[in-house]
Amino acid sequence: MNRTLITLIFMSLMAAIAISSCSTNQTESAQGEWITGTEQEKLSLIEDHLGGFGRTMMEVGYRYTELYWAGQDENWLYAAYQLEEMEEALENGFERRPARAASAETFMQNSLPRMMEATQENNRDRFHDVFQSFTLQCNMCHALEEVAFIAIKEPQVRASSVRF
Ligand code: HEC
Repeated sequence: MNRTLITLIFMSLMAAIAISSCSTNQTESAQGEWITGTEQEKLSLIEDHLGGFGRTMMEVGYRYTELYWAGQDENWLYAAYQLEEMEEALENGFERRPARAASAETFMQNSLPRMMEATQENNRDRFHDVFQSFTLQCNMCHALEEVAFIAIKEPQVRASSVRF
């Protein structure tokens, strides 16, 4: 065998080793402490633990009460912040559960923007009026989604540690 042939055989051997180690890396997937299994099993587990629309609504419920007390305090920046976060939570919720989006159309298109405008008017009474129709729209969607037993009313007890 001449030198060129030996070099060629050596190089193709190295290439074969490189390719096989590469493909092993691709099939071997990372395993967590408890997020384990195939790629599909791991994704399903993560999705289950992230939760569905109920998880979104727990956040919306919290932000709704914070929004209310922000209005009472005339802390308009905090009120606007809560509305922005609420909108984002809802948008993420519709990514998880697209079937819920249709019932929330009025809420997303009208109620949220109107409430946002009210945070810019620096007027507590006006804020309160808009907040009441905002609340009606929460309940409207609950009715459409057949969870009317989750009846939302203006908060009465203040749990927030954010004061102005
Ligand atoms: C899609 C329309 C929709 C809109 C708009 C909506 N909700 Fe909901 N809400 C739901 C649905 C559906 C559930 C039940 C959750 C489930 O089935 O996973 C729910 C549940 C809830 C819950 C119970 C959460 C829990 O599991 O403890 C609260 C609190 C709540 N909503 C508050 C509100 C408030 C406050 C607003 C308005 C700011 C609002 N929601 C607007 C659809 C909506």
